[in-house]
Amino acid sequence: MATLLHIDTSFNGENSHSRAVTAAFRKAWEAEHPEGTVIYRDLAAEPVPHLGAADLDAGGAAAADRSPEEPAAFESRGRLIEEAERADVILIGAPMYNYSIPSTLKAWLDQVFLVGRTAIAEHPSLAGKRAVVVASRGGSYREGTPQFGNDYVENYLRLILADVFGMDVSFITPELTFAPHVPAMAELVPLFEASRTESFAAAESLAKDLAVQLVA
Ligand SMILES: Cc1cc2nc3c(=O)[nH]c(=O)nc-3n(C[C@H](O)[C@H](O)[C@H](O)COP(=O)(O)O)c2cc1C
Repeated sequence: MATLLHIDTSFNGENSHSRAVTAAFRKAWEAEHPEGTVIYRDLAAEPVPHLGAADLDAGGAAAADRSPEEPAAFESRGRLIEEAERADVILIGAPMYNYSIPSTLKAWLDQVFLVGRTAIAEHPSLAGKRAVVVASRGGSYREGTPQFGNDYVENYLRLILADVFGMDVSFITPELTFAPHVPAMAELVPLFEASRTESFAAAESLAKDLAVQLVA
């Protein structure tokens, strides 16, 4: 049975563009997998703890060398990793905050990044799985724009998810979401609207394509 791990991180609730697009992906995915399982994590509502020394040692030390606190620390870290390992597809809403990812998403990645298991391993446990990232942003960072090169969302997530974890990653980028609210960006509203329409279409078609690949 197919499993989707759906992670949202925007703190904008119903006004969130990334949440709207991840919801569209999930709806299309559920239509393709009526018997499938969805694991949902809202990291804005329920953030995971920052990685601490106990988590680090728990992940690295041999079972016999662990301190009494380590099993508990590893249990919560292990649960996050197992959720990711159970998933066929990991869907992540990743709004741009100050040129980078939300700190809640960084905390989740730090928990899941375990040397010898998900990362820097002979067979990283998430390798070959699909990841879909909805990277919403107020401006545009496309080639030819003044902000080109300043996007530390896509390049960072591509490094971790694709290069380190070995996942097959697709990005959907609803952009210029500031345009309807910032008078100086008024002339960019049509581009914002086009990006929004494209993002919903990409989410729906990707969900269907991945369903075909999972049963193939
Ligand atoms: C704290 C904060 C920092 C932001 N920093 C940036 C930024 O560096 N670049 C940018 O293009 N947009 C930035 N934005 C705008 C968001 O990326 C934009 O509102 C996006 O739509 C957020 O995703 P959401 O709609 O899913 O909440 C920022 C928004 C907030 C709240």
